[in-house]
Amino acid sequence: MVKTYNEICRSAKYKLTGNGDRCVGLLLESFEHIDPSTSADVYGTGSIINDFEKEISELLGKEAAVFFPSGTMAQQIALRIWSDEKELKKVAYHPLCHLEIHEKDGLKVLHHLQPLLLGDSNRLFSIEDLKLMKDPVSCLLIELPQREIGGQLPAWEDLVYISEFCKDNGIRLHLDGARLFEALPYYNKSASEVCSLFDSVYVSFYKGLGGIAGAMLAGNIDFIEQSKVWKRRHGGDLISLYPYIVNAKDCANKRMGNMKKYWQHAMTVAARLNKIEGVKTIPEIPVCNMFHLYIDAPKEKLENILVDIIEKHSIVLVGNIRDIDGISCKSELSFGDNFDLIPQDLLDEAFHQFDSEFQKLQIE
Ligand SMILES: Cc1ncc(COP(=O)(O)O)c(C=O)c1O
Repeated sequence: MVKTYNEICRSAKYKLTGNGDRCVGLLLESFEHIDPSTSADVYGTGSIINDFEKEISELLGKEAAVFFPSGTMAQQIALRIWSDEKELKKVAYHPLCHLEIHEKDGLKVLHHLQPLLLGDSNRLFSIEDLKLMKDPVSCLLIELPQREIGGQLPAWEDLVYISEFCKDNGIRLHLDGARLFEALPYYNKSASEVCSLFDSVYVSFYKGLGGIAGAMLAGNIDFIEQSKVWKRRHGGDLISLYPYIVNAKDCANKRMGNMKKYWQHAMTVAARLNKIEGVKTIPEIPVCNMFHLYIDAPKEKLENILVDIIEKHSIVLVGNIRDIDGISCKSELSFGDNFDLIPQDLLDEAFHQFDSEFQKLQIE
């Protein structure tokens, strides 16, 4: 059987992006130093879960936090609580935020909330967009960084302004911080400094941190107590969540301090790619460990070039390529531990081959 491009990628020794393959062995690694007699958590109680919640709530500078199996569950609940508080079903967020395009309308179908899409889909929403918002909303959600436009970030001054605007207008401000830790080096701020602008915060353990799954929702005590009730209603209170917690803790310890390095890798590679005609990154200069890559070539032709590179150097330069319109394609690149594993001379050769093969394609 002919292998797909993604299958060929999986067999390569080196990958430009990511933190390693998502294999079951990751869990074994995380449990290496755990005493097997450690008590499991039971329906959200026990030190294994509650100590971790406390640790993360302190890191984020919030009164309390609760561990969720997914960010999808955590954030719908956060917005529901803020909407109930104000008895106002309208909430505002970016047109391409996760809740709007990846959650099968959970917010609308399960919670009957009415999203107001702020600004245009191809850019960050601005303070002007906020001021022009016609309807009152109970909550505004900001995603830092905004993944679907390449991981862009608003200026710190804009965030501060938005936070004050929300306070002045009785709007709760929620942070989709799926990649918050990845954004901190750009702001040169601590997690708690950033989170102090927000009423509630969600962070993920499986994006830049490279865990299996899992999320933490943080806020004031009353908000977190309510979110625990909703977690139970959603079936999110698994009798034991410790495999995710042990792994989340391990991955946070391993990678939390690496975000600046991952960002530097993203900048290095983006600068290199932007030199090639017919290739561009958004943003041009990454502001965190990710960017989106746009290539003027049909997906199949690009994949053929990349397969040759994998066969010769065993390096995947770009994976998960998506067709845009038959003549161009795109991909998302997020940098992690994998980058440093590639011998530099091999990477140079791979890029060199990419440059010359891609130029030949442009001339064809
Ligand atoms: C920006 C953002 N928010 C929320 C989520 C939801 O996270 P989960 O997969 O844990 O439900 C994701 C997942 O990709 C995301 O990228």
